[in-house]
Parts: sequence; structure tokens; C-alpha cells
Amino acid sequence: MPPPKIAIVGAGSIGVAWAIVFARSGSAVALQDPDPRRLELAPGEIRARLGELAGFDLLDERPEVIATRIVMSADLAGAAYVQECAPESLELKRDLFARLDREAAPEAVLASSSSFLTASAFAGELPGRERCLVAHPANPPYLLPVVELVPAPFTRADAVDRAAAILEGAGISVVRLAREVDGFIFNRLQGALLREAYCLVRDGVAGVDDVDRLVRDGLGRRWSVIGPFETSDLNTRGGIEVHAQRMGPAYERMGAERGQHDPWTPELVARVTAERRALLPLEQWDERVAWRDRMLMTRMSASGGMDDRLAITRLLHRYCAMLDSMELELVTELFTPDCAVIYGPDERMRSEGADNLAASLRRLHRFARTSHHLSNVDIDLDANEARGRSYVLAWHQHPDGRTQTLYAEYHDRFVRTAGGWRIAERRQLTHGSDAPWDLPLAMSDRRPS
Ligand SMILES: NC(=O)c1ccc[n+]([C@@H]2O[C@H](COP(=O)([O-])OP(=O)(O)OC[C@H]3O[C@@H](n4cnc5c(N)ncnc54)[C@H](O)[C@@H]3O)[C@@H](O)[C@H]2O)c1
Repeated sequence: MPPPKIAIVGAGSIGVAWAIVFARSGSAVALQDPDPRRLELAPGEIRARLGELAGFDLLDERPEVIATRIVMSADLAGAAYVQECAPESLELKRDLFARLDREAAPEAVLASSSSFLTASAFAGELPGRERCLVAHPANPPYLLPVVELVPAPFTRADAVDRAAAILEGAGISVVRLAREVDGFIFNRLQGALLREAYCLVRDGVAGVDDVDRLVRDGLGRRWSVIGPFETSDLNTRGGIEVHAQRMGPAYERMGAERGQHDPWTPELVARVTAERRALLPLEQWDERVAWRDRMLMTRMSASGGMDDRLAITRLLHRYCAMLDSMELELVTELFTPDCAVIYGPDERMRSEGADNLAASLRRLHRFARTSHHLSNVDIDLDANEARGRSYVLAWHQHPDGRTQTLYAEYHDRFVRTAGGWRIAERRQLTHGSDAPWDLPLAMSDRRPS
């Protein structure tokens, strides 16, 4: 079956992101917005976001191919699924759904990205209310691929099924809620944590950054592999039932401190345990704990290291691009203010500090054109510092047309700063040149033995 045609109504943050999700999975997407400025800006934003995804190797096709599937059009004809992404206002969504119900084909599903408003509130009066529901994404859905499907009491089951099939076909993990509840699940869970975080800061227990680091470096990492129920199940030998017996009273005390009284009754714990045991028999518990730890190790070695390596490689690419466009004043942004740069053994070939670096780079102005091609980059990471070896082939053209090519190897020390990775030390070794180069450079280091 060909991918379904999709209409997206509202081309703000979420609308643009949904357009990428559906176009990436092969659907033709019609994206509309009443604001002419958004219509003008959205295509560029889509191209930029697709470019970023391609940079991280997250697309199966070229970004241009995916972008051509998205057209700016208010035409709902032929759309099997409409994803509404207009501002979170009841009046607005009510009027908008009335229009969508009139204009969309009778078999099309009408889904709202709404974060809090329910379909009961904005679609209850419509003739086609049976095909209306909420499909609440995480932002942006092409990076956090989960959606909550929230039907109103009047939504027909087959509309929910069709929405689920289309979203799953677009690579989104679908969570179906049995009924409407304020804030759905995503924001209720987020809210529970945020309410407690505010209390802890208010009571002077910890600062804002302390709470964020605990979540980022601890809970969040764990939750990128398993959810809170599976966490409790795997954290206690004997599983979640034993966890509830041991930890239940402490959690109840903490809840009571905040005026909450929702004890984990034996019936509730039995239900949760039964669901967990159906997912993971206790005989497989040890194996799953080992799997969890391997997943955490994979994430630690791949994601942390990969992000940093990419950031450093981009820094080196930007360096080359800035030299090529002669943006020599900007180059110093890539270095720490106290950087040391050594081009050769001669004193003249050495600069201390970003200001001196700018001055020494100005000698490139004598060329009519330059082209710096970065090839291999090897990086050794060590938390907030990194050492790198990179190779650059530099081509220079003089105003009289003569050219020179230089083969250089850079040994860099990078440091992580508040603004990202910067070069703190750079040593250039010259491996040769096809025409005489600056004397000190030509005589400078050969490859170390
Ligand atoms: N931003 C988030 O983190 C997030 C996450 C999940 C869900 N949502 C929900 O998604 C929806 C859109 O949020 P957003 O952050 O993209 O907002 P946004 O302000 O970035 O975009 C809204 C867009 O809707 C357009 N618009 C205004 N009136 C319209 C109309 N009558 N018909 C069609 N389009 C109209 C606006 O011009 C704007 O481009 C909201 O319901 C929001 O609650 C947002």
C-alpha cells in the first residue's frame, strides 16, 4: 500500500516537525498555515532540520528528496489523516475542527496535537466527531518518536486504529489512552516530577542545576532504556512486588509530605505485578538486568562519545571553511582566548592567544584564493578535554595565478567550554609542498619518527 497522504494544519514548531516525520516515511504532505510569514519561513526550516538529521546520518534518503514531498497547500483533498497543530486555544481549535470536518474527506481521521485540550472539548458538537481524537506528540516527534492517542467517548475505535496504523507506519511508537484525562500521560508524568523539583528548590534542599543533573545523568539515562515500572522491577531481586513491599511505605510518606494520599494497595500492586510478569517472567530477570546494563553501556560509549567527536569534527570543518571564505577574524571564535598555536619551529611561526592568532592568520590575505580540505580526523576523548590528529590538504592561489599545495597534519588539544568545544592548542606539522613554501615552514617538522 502506498504511504497515506497527510495534511498538517499549522506550520509552527510542531507542524513543521510532523511534516518531517511523515515525509521521511514516504508520505506526500500538504502543510498549511493562515500566517503568510510562516508559509514563507517553513520550507527553509524544514530544509535546515532535514540537513541536521542528514548530518547525524538519520535519514535513509537525501534531504532534498524528502523535502520535495512537502508542499505548502491548504488543500485537504485526498488526505487520509489530518494532524492539527494550531495554537493551544479552545475557541480556535473548536472553529478549526468545524472547518476540517467540513473540508476533509469523510473517511479522513482528524487528529489534534493538543497538549491539554481534549477532543470532547473541541469536537463534541461536530457531525463528524466520531473520527476526531488527540494525537499528542513529544517535541520534536522526529527525535522523540512517541505519540499519545486520546479518544473522546464518541471517537470510533476504527478511527483510533487507523490513526495508530498511520503513525506506526511513520515510525512513531503509539500509546493508546483508555480515556481522556487532563494532561494525558506525558505531561502528567512530567508534571509529577516538575512539581517535586519545584518543592525541593523551594525548600532549599538543592539548586536548579543539581536537580537537572540528577535527572540528566541518572534518571534520564536510565529512562532512555527502561521506564519507571521496569526500573522498579529490575532494581529489586524478586521483582516489582518485592520492590513495592520494601519501598512502598517510604514512597507513601513522601507523597503524604506533599498532601498526596494514593497508597499502592495490595490489589494495585498485584495488577502491576501481573502485567510485569506477563512481560518478563522472573526466570528471565537476571538476563534482563544484564541487558539493561549493556544498553546503558552502549549509550554511554556511542552517544556521549559520538556527539563530542562530531562536535569537534565540525569545529575543524568550520576552521577550514572560514579560511576558504577569508573570514579570518571569525576563526578566533574556534579557539580559547589563551590558545597556543605553533606552525613551525621558528618563533615567528608561533602565536600565543587568540588576538595574535588573528594577526598571524592575516598573512593568508596575500592569496587570491585558498581551499582547505580536511581528511582524516582521529580524536581521543577524555571528559572535558580531547586530543586530536587531523590532516588538511591546503591549496593556495596567488594573485598572479601561481598555485601551491601544502600537506599539513595538526595535533590539537580541545577543551569543552560553556560555548562548546574549542581549540586550546594547535601544532602544525608540514609534510610537504609542491612548490617552495615559507622558508620556516618548508624547513619545519617532518612526520615524527
Ligand atoms: N511545542 C511543544 O512542545 C508541543 C508539544 C506537543 C504538543 N504541542 C501542541 O501542538 C500545537 C501547536 O503548538 P506549536 O508549539 O507548534 O505552536 P506554534 O505557535 O509554534 O505554531 C502554531 C501555528 O499555528 C498557526 N495557526 C494559528 N491559527 C491557525 C488556524 N486557525 N489554523 C491553522 N493554523 C493556525 C500559527 O500561525 C502557527 O504557525 C498546540 O496545540 C500545542 O499544545 C506543542
